[in-house]
Amino acid sequence: MTERTLAIIKPDAVKKNAIGDIIKQYEAAGLRPVAIRMMQLSKAVAEGFYAVHRSRPFFDSLTTFMSSGPVVVLALVGEDAIKRHRELMGATDPAKAAPGTIRAAHGANIEFNAVHGSDAPETARFEIGYFFPEMDLAVR
Ligand code: CMP
Repeated sequence: MTERTLAIIKPDAVKKNAIGDIIKQYEAAGLRPVAIRMMQLSKAVAEGFYAVHRSRPFFDSLTTFMSSGPVVVLALVGEDAIKRHRELMGATDPAKAAPGTIRAAHGANIEFNAVHGSDAPETARFEIGYFFPEMDLAVR
């Protein structure tokens, strides 16, 4: 099933100049970018994006980190894109991520974990719509 997912290359990975490496891995895995945007999130925009985590103890430090520097936001399309992207990223905690995954290569710890990916179709719809109006998505 062809589906869409949202990816964010987080401030830590942007600082490490890993944007190109990460997008190369998306393309090699059959995840085709249909929208790409580099931006700096305000704290409020990061809080809105991660609103489902509002009651978690890490919410403030997560949203402070996510607004600490530029990010690259991508909408990706491909066969089983959500699952495929999550496999490519590896476990949330880079220490537990399989060798060869993006988080194993570029993440430092569970907070500074290089990339974000949608976890379900409903989440992907919300997350893509949070950054991109439908008319900004290319057809590929
Ligand atoms: P992400 O895929 O962006 O979705 C939510 C984020 O919260 C997650 O990646 C981590 O960066 C962060 N996160 C999840 N669990 C923890 C935790 N226990 N401590 C700190 N940050 C966390």
